[in-house]
Amino acid sequence: MQFKLTVLPGDGIGPEVIEESIKVLRAVGVRFGHEFEFQYGIVGGGAIDATGTPLPKETISLCRGVDAILFGAVGGPKWDDPSAKVRPEDGILAIRKQLGLFANLRPVKVLPALINSSPVKASLLEGVDMIVVRELTGGLYFASPKRRWETSRGRRGVDTLRYTEQEIDRILRVGFDLARRRKKRLTSVDKANVLESSRLWREIATEVACEYPDIELEHVLVDAAAMQLIRNPAHYDVIVAENMFGDILTDEASVLSGSLGMLPSASLAGLPKGGRAKRGNKVSLYEPIHGSAPDIAGQGIANPIGTVLSAAMMLRHSLGLEDEATAVERSVDGALAEGYRTPDIGSDGGEVIATSRMGSLIAGGI
Ligand code: IPM
Ligand code: MG
Repeated sequence: MQFKLTVLPGDGIGPEVIEESIKVLRAVGVRFGHEFEFQYGIVGGGAIDATGTPLPKETISLCRGVDAILFGAVGGPKWDDPSAKVRPEDGILAIRKQLGLFANLRPVKVLPALINSSPVKASLLEGVDMIVVRELTGGLYFASPKRRWETSRGRRGVDTLRYTEQEIDRILRVGFDLARRRKKRLTSVDKANVLESSRLWREIATEVACEYPDIELEHVLVDAAAMQLIRNPAHYDVIVAENMFGDILTDEASVLSGSLGMLPSASLAGLPKGGRAKRGNKVSLYEPIHGSAPDIAGQGIANPIGTVLSAAMMLRHSLGLEDEATAVERSVDGALAEGYRTPDIGSDGGEVIATSRMGSLIAGGI
């Protein structure tokens, strides 16, 4: 089959890890007889330098009408001035918002080969296999007022945690639907002891749960969830959280898997019926959960696995290529089982190799 993909490498290690996932996709094409056409766009800091805006019009038009989008990372010290009018991160936030990608799926697994790469005790990591459903287009990231100003008594700043019933309802349903295909357990994360928006969230979660009598729903406060995620990570199956809680909890959860560089994500405009997005549905975006890691950019040592696994999620969810997705995941497992490591996961004594070698090994194993 033929597929058209938009690739947005972005800044920092973005282009390095994207290159490896393209290598892997090309290998998938050869092995399974598919043709991938890649069209590249600029986004983030690089786009600010070139055009003055982190998401040029040309880039957003490249994102429409394609089978899927593969995204690297954005940001870096060069654009970090707190008084800057535009920021690289605004690029990815605008794409998410404009394409309506409200559901961000972040699976967290501990691959057996990496059980000793995590600072968390191996005995706690057995059986860890959860998916965090992060709300991606609401809450503190987007609601107004959102601004800074000066008063006679000093500087002020405000962000707004606002959610509508519809936004909460639709993200919770994504969680419940996923839970139905998994262990039938859903953890809804909130801060209902303090926040009004969380009390609404909890109320709606309880209401929606009535339509899913087969799913066991628990409500957990976000601070307690942060603790339990390390103390008893195997307890969790599907976790649903608002935008910022989900952002924080998934960086934390990545420690279980060995490194922030390991985790993929899919940003969808809703869960496709039957678990698969057909071609022609709304476009989805796939990106690793890590950022642009400017401290290691350009050194060829970044871990490409989060991006490669994001490409696998793309094969599965947007292109309907289950066997191909599994082949990529198996090849990742294989390279790790053979002891190959990028530096971030190399503390267990495996053979530490460069980004491009890891990509080639995974591509070679397809
Ligand atoms: C993520 C990142 C982004 C976010 C940043 C780069 C804006 O941390 O995808 O988790 O906060 O959503
Ligand atoms: Mg994050």
